[in-house]
Amino acid sequence: MSSDATKAENRRMILAARPQGMVDASTVRLETGPVPEPGPGQALVKVQWLSIDPTIRTWMDDRPGYLPPIALGEVVRGAVLGQVTASNSDAYAPGDMVVGMAGWQDWTLAGEGAHGMQVIPPGLEPGAVLNVFGVNGLTAYWGMLDVGRVQSGDIVVVSGAAGATGSLVGQIAKIKGAAKVVGLAGTPEKCAWITDELGFDAAIDYRTEDVAKALRRHCPQGIDLYFDNVGGEILDICLAQLALRGRIVLCGAISAYNATERPAGPSNVFNLIIKRGRMEGFLVLDYMDRAATAQLELAGWMAEGKIKHREHVVQGLEHAPDALNVLFTGENIGKVIVEV
Ligand SMILES: NC(=O)c1ccc[n+]([C@@H]2O[C@H](COP(=O)([O-])OP(=O)(O)OC[C@H]3O[C@@H](n4cnc5c(N)ncnc54)[C@H](OP(=O)(O)O)[C@@H]3O)[C@@H](O)[C@H]2O)c1
Repeated sequence: MSSDATKAENRRMILAARPQGMVDASTVRLETGPVPEPGPGQALVKVQWLSIDPTIRTWMDDRPGYLPPIALGEVVRGAVLGQVTASNSDAYAPGDMVVGMAGWQDWTLAGEGAHGMQVIPPGLEPGAVLNVFGVNGLTAYWGMLDVGRVQSGDIVVVSGAAGATGSLVGQIAKIKGAAKVVGLAGTPEKCAWITDELGFDAAIDYRTEDVAKALRRHCPQGIDLYFDNVGGEILDICLAQLALRGRIVLCGAISAYNATERPAGPSNVFNLIIKRGRMEGFLVLDYMDRAATAQLELAGWMAEGKIKHREHVVQGLEHAPDALNVLFTGENIGKVIVEV
């Protein structure tokens, strides 16, 4: 074991109670224990960065989802980036950078009977790994290309547009020849970032503007492709303004993740019939076998300067719950990551 590990303890952020609304001090507790010992076929990994994703909040609820809820007493689940410090496995060498779902803790084991962590090429910055080449990039890429079937000339609208996924969605739409890309975001600073830096054609500050009116102004012929990260009222407004054969990609419904009562459903679904439209949900998990295809193309676009990314960095494992709440208060521009 490395000298680093022998000196250290392992802090683990445990789910202590099911949250009601936002995560608070009673939701989690930090436990300290020994650093795990790698057994045969295993490697020891120092967790360096956490990917903070809205879906972590949904896993904290005790209700059926696409993955089982995080059990009370378990480490909070989440994707991490770390470095191998010792290895008894041919698959990992000390110094390797690895990603996987190791959760909110300082140290973890990878390999046989432990987390299946993937070795990544050296030299990549953490933001690029967890954002563009991670879940958000893959979600934006396959959500636009496979589910939304973005086409040249499309009028595209994306909500959560200054967040990790939405900011990439808008840039991919431009790369694919969208005639217009309109982003919905929650502050003037976010609106300025997506138009001035990322090349969106227009931005709507949904907290201060009349969204229905603004969309009618920006998209007088209707919306060909709406990429929905938020659900709720904004989804309903976009349903009402769909163009003929318009598509809605249901990616996320962040407006409902902290809801304590069942949210009201959209009232404009009937318009899908009138407009012969299509609304389809998807999970990026179903595209993991095609991750490399997306990562290769995203890397090319990044090298050409066509894809920009930004991270909102929170320091310290102990602040991971605050980092999760940032996604719901909207303090982030770009991807929220925690430097452990
Ligand atoms: N289907 C999949 O496989 C998949 C994979 C990854 C992510 N997702 C989903 O994609 C969405 C974005 O995730 P992300 O990781 O990229 O997060 P993010 O967009 O970086 O951060 C979340 C953003 O959501 C906005 N927001 C929060 N509460 C809102 C509300 N009540 N109404 C409208 N906007 C609200 C905030 O921006 P504002 O300041 O603009 O409000 C916040 O910055 C989430 O719904 C997530 O669950 C789905």
